[in-house]
Amino acid sequence: MRGADHHPSRRRFLDATGAMVAIGLTAGCESHADRPDGPGAAAPATPSPRPVAPAGRHQAGVTVPQPAQRNLLAVVADLGPGVAAGPLLAELGRTVLTLAAGTDARLMGLPPGDLTVTVGVGPRLVRTAGPSLPGAADLPRFSRERIPPQARGGDLLIQVCATDALLPPVAANALLDQAGDRLRERWRQSGHRGADVPVDKGRSAPRNLLGFVDGIVGPHTAEAQERHLWLAGPAPVAGGTLAVLRRMELDLPRFAALTVAEQEAVFGRRRATGNPLSGGAIASDPQLGAKTADGRYLIPADAHVRRANANAVGAGLMLRRSYSIDEPAPGLLFISFQNDIRTFTDTLTRMDSSDALLPYTTTTAGAAFLILPGFGEAKPLGSTLFR
Ligand code: HEM
Repeated sequence: MRGADHHPSRRRFLDATGAMVAIGLTAGCESHADRPDGPGAAAPATPSPRPVAPAGRHQAGVTVPQPAQRNLLAVVADLGPGVAAGPLLAELGRTVLTLAAGTDARLMGLPPGDLTVTVGVGPRLVRTAGPSLPGAADLPRFSRERIPPQARGGDLLIQVCATDALLPPVAANALLDQAGDRLRERWRQSGHRGADVPVDKGRSAPRNLLGFVDGIVGPHTAEAQERHLWLAGPAPVAGGTLAVLRRMELDLPRFAALTVAEQEAVFGRRRATGNPLSGGAIASDPQLGAKTADGRYLIPADAHVRRANANAVGAGLMLRRSYSIDEPAPGLLFISFQNDIRTFTDTLTRMDSSDALLPYTTTTAGAAFLILPGFGEAKPLGSTLFR
């Protein structure tokens, strides 16, 4: 088994691949020693990515794996009238476990690799569990939105990510199949991430379609994640977090017509390196007070990193895990996770009043979800909130 010794859960991986051995799909698991070299030998197979544990205190697909997988599919659906959330979520959770273990026939024999499924519930459902719980409030409206009613909000988020581009649609289909007519799909969005750029101590981030490294600043240490990312309480939501998804289409031709220096002024960072315009390396904090000899800010007053800076906003940190999109138009599926929705709303409100990036964006879908606490065999998904 190539790379099997590096897998945290070799047993699970072996279980998952058992079915594939039977149908001859194990080429990806061959070692070099097993493979005949020389002309006519098969091309080297892509090594299978490390499996990600689906169960635990938190759901997978938020902080793990790091870096995030290349491919994502987010499906947003409503519950049909009279459908009980508790049994449905418990069933979906069990399906997530069988998908991650590779034992679900609906995977069509595909190895699950680093597949993650992250499930969230929308404000309407959260309110049925408790009107004052985190996640109970609808997102307010912001500028530059062109969101049809169908693509605003929703009861349920199923975020599926994997290195193998085939897995997100196949796994999402299995979950939707499990739900049957209890779920009505509202909107879906697939997204992709390019090559990662090293940022700091084993951490990396991809570029977006504008060429800039995206996902540098955020709660990246365990301590910062406890403080800014994970919900500590009340008990039914402990271990969960709040997600915001916004499909932001980008005016690529207009941005591409700017000089590189103008593009860098929009963000406040160098395009090639990700370094802040105030100096230092990619992981250095932008120095918002730094000025040129003639008194101009090195990071312009309307630069995105200044407008969105947590200290300048007076908000907490958000973990951004966005994916670039090409359909229905080029842009970014912005995804942020935070334990206080004001971190998102206060940031976007401040950006709305003056952010050089926003005129290049149009938001065409958006929703907020309570990402349910982690689950497992003994603690069904959603069981702390719904019966
Ligand atoms: C298409 C839309 C967007 C693009 C292309 C984009 C891109 C970027 C880039 C390249 C950076 C600098 C590197 C980094 O720290 O990751 C950044 C920083 C940031 N963005 Fe965005 N962003 C977008 C929308 C948003 C939205 C809607 C929000 C939240 C309301 C947001 C919040 C932030 C925050 C908090 C930072 C870190 C600022 C700092 O402290 O330096 N971004 N974004």
